[in-house]
Amino acid sequence: MKKIYSFLFALLNLGSLCQAQQPVKESKGFYQFLTDDPNQKPFYSDRQGVMAQNGMVASAHPESSRVGADILKKGGNAVDAAVAVQFALAVTHPSAGNIGGGGFMVFRAADGKSYTLDFREKAPLKGGKDMYLDAEGNVVPGLSTLGHLASGVPGSVEGMAVAHARFGKLLWSELLQPAIDLAEKGVVQTDREARGLNAIKANVQKVNPGTRYFLRTDGRDWQAGDTLMQPDLAKVLRAIQKKGSKGFYKGKVARQIAREMKKNKGIISKKDLKEYHAKWREPIIGDYKNYKIITMPPTSSGGVALMQLLRLVEPYPLTRWGWNTDSTAQVMIEAERRVYADRAKFLGDPDFVDVPVDKLISYDYLKKRWQDFSFGKATDSKAVSGGDLPGYESLETTHFSVVDKDRNAVSITTTLNGGYGSKVIVKGGGFFMNNEMDDFSVKAGVPNMFGLIGNKANEIAPSKRMLSSMTPTIVEKDGKLYMVVGTPGGSTIITAVYQTILNVLEHGMTMQQSVNALKFHHQWLPDKTVFEAGAFTDNTIDKLQNRGYILEQQRNTIGRMDCILLLPDGSLEGASDPRGDDVSVGY
Ligand code: GLY
Repeated sequence: MKKIYSFLFALLNLGSLCQAQQPVKESKGFYQFLTDDPNQKPFYSDRQGVMAQNGMVASAHPESSRVGADILKKGGNAVDAAVAVQFALAVTHPSAGNIGGGGFMVFRAADGKSYTLDFREKAPLKGGKDMYLDAEGNVVPGLSTLGHLASGVPGSVEGMAVAHARFGKLLWSELLQPAIDLAEKGVVQTDREARGLNAIKANVQKVNPGTRYFLRTDGRDWQAGDTLMQPDLAKVLRAIQKKGSKGFYKGKVARQIAREMKKNKGIISKKDLKEYHAKWREPIIGDYKNYKIITMPPTSSGGVALMQLLRLVEPYPLTRWGWNTDSTAQVMIEAERRVYADRAKFLGDPDFVDVPVDKLISYDYLKKRWQDFSFGKATDSKAVSGGDLPGYESLETTHFSVVDKDRNAVSITTTLNGGYGSKVIVKGGGFFMNNEMDDFSVKAGVPNMFGLIGNKANEIAPSKRMLSSMTPTIVEKDGKLYMVVGTPGGSTIITAVYQTILNVLEHGMTMQQSVNALKFHHQWLPDKTVFEAGAFTDNTIDKLQNRGYILEQQRNTIGRMDCILLLPDGSLEGASDPRGDDVSVGY
């Protein structure tokens, strides 16, 4: 079915969503470092994001941000708005928004107390450490990424129900209604969403033979301006609206999922769904200078890694050295090398393995990690562990940030893992299932789709949660809410969040400048630094290469941030990433 919407109309709509846009501000001059080549167009912003006084939602899709802002205007708090945004994203942004995936929530209440909720997927009860290996013990290519065996037991619906039950103010049914409306009335496809659906057509047909979901009825390619209707998804959302999480984990929808799995050699059962539980965990809270970082503990590696990264560079004068200069980049890269090596060795589901969080983020331990560092020469990752690894794949996950009028703040990152997850679409339900099982270490030392390796701490076990890099984070300054931050991007999530925080704290950028600023990434193995074109000057590249750094400019962008900053006058700056369709809506 196709409705014609002019692209101009869509753009006008988008413009009207960016309420209360502020005039362009004076640039702070950081972008002068972006390029030495006068013909190369630097990618920078010298302006603030969307400004508002009362509340703000920053997400990957304009309709989802609008839904969240409407809930805030109705008197809902940040958790209410977040629940509505999560379900809206499952409709508007099917590549990563989801009910068939999982995620993490960091919540800082207006009274200053912080909470973290783990609604990460779990390995099915029939899962086991060798489930992706052949008779010779080799990894079967694709088994953990494409098709029914790739899915973990979804956690998003339970996560939202648990968050709402504890902190929500509005009725659950009100929070589901906007997503139901979007699924029934349809969502106008952006160019990016249309291209995304076209790119997965072959795999969707391979995994779901004969399906009509997510295909145009005339069989032709999706175009920007087409409308995607999702009536079966609307029915699932109605069941969740009526029965809460039981509408998903029990009854008809659970039977649809279990049948879908059973018919296609998947192993998620009704028992898996019935037994799924989200879990409140102690947040990681640590100082960085006079700021407090509130972030996600394991099962994510993100919070531990972020605290390590910030504390490793804390002794160095980054502000004086300047943004992305050779010295700044060098200490940041060396910190990343050490932190990702720790990630591979120590991190996994804390319900199954002992993760030494306090030790890993302690100043004593981190000081020792610098012992083999010298400014003269890059440290060799192979000196720590061997192996040449492949590069990176498409990165899909999604992040959103919400702040309400009382200054409750929510930071949620949620995912299907790869774009559109396992490509499995539940028959009768019309939603994608995740391929999160690939985030386990399917075999010690063998890289996952993000090139990350792991070992025993992250090996598969029934009901275990797979390690994540998602890093939803909230920053406090002087005991008050200061910044809400997060991004998709697989293994680059941690380093993108790290840079976005430092850009504001150390380099004086506005939230929007920081989101837009070009980024780089090192993850220990493979031993190279990838960067967005223009992130380093030619001069900086020369200096780093002379010290032995392998630098690789990549076509893929790094990060798709959705962040909110509180300004000294109490107003909110919403900053959504121009690398995607992301939009901040405030009021
Ligand atoms: N699936 C990406 C992550 O959780 O890190």
